[in-house]
Amino acid sequence: MASTEVDIAAVPEGQILTIKWRGGPVFVRHRTKKEIEDAQNVELSELRDPQTDASRVQKPEWLIVVGICTHLGCVPIGHEGKYEGWFCPCHGSVYDTSGRIRQGPAPLNLAVPEYKFLTDTRLKIG
Ligand code: FES
Repeated sequence: MASTEVDIAAVPEGQILTIKWRGGPVFVRHRTKKEIEDAQNVELSELRDPQTDASRVQKPEWLIVVGICTHLGCVPIGHEGKYEGWFCPCHGSVYDTSGRIRQGPAPLNLAVPEYKFLTDTRLKIG
């Protein structure tokens, strides 16, 4: 399957870079300290699709997720919703700063694609 490489050096803290991979969006989010703490300080029992933040990232400051809502496939909007992760405008699913589903009809967390850091600033997705 096709992979893609992306330079993340120019993505400032607090910003989300959207790239295209296999015809759909992938979000590369440079998380702030607060966003990381918010993602880490959640009881698994509160989660519909229980996953620790640590299991979803390789480096805490970088969250990489497929930008497709797990309900019916719309593209969620970053920094929106109660948990300031993503909000899906189609039917109101709310994701946290780890991309985990917290409210609304979506059943699952935003998917984490296969990826690896080639260097500190270069990412290979797929
Ligand atoms: Fe996102 Fe329905 S497609 S909430």
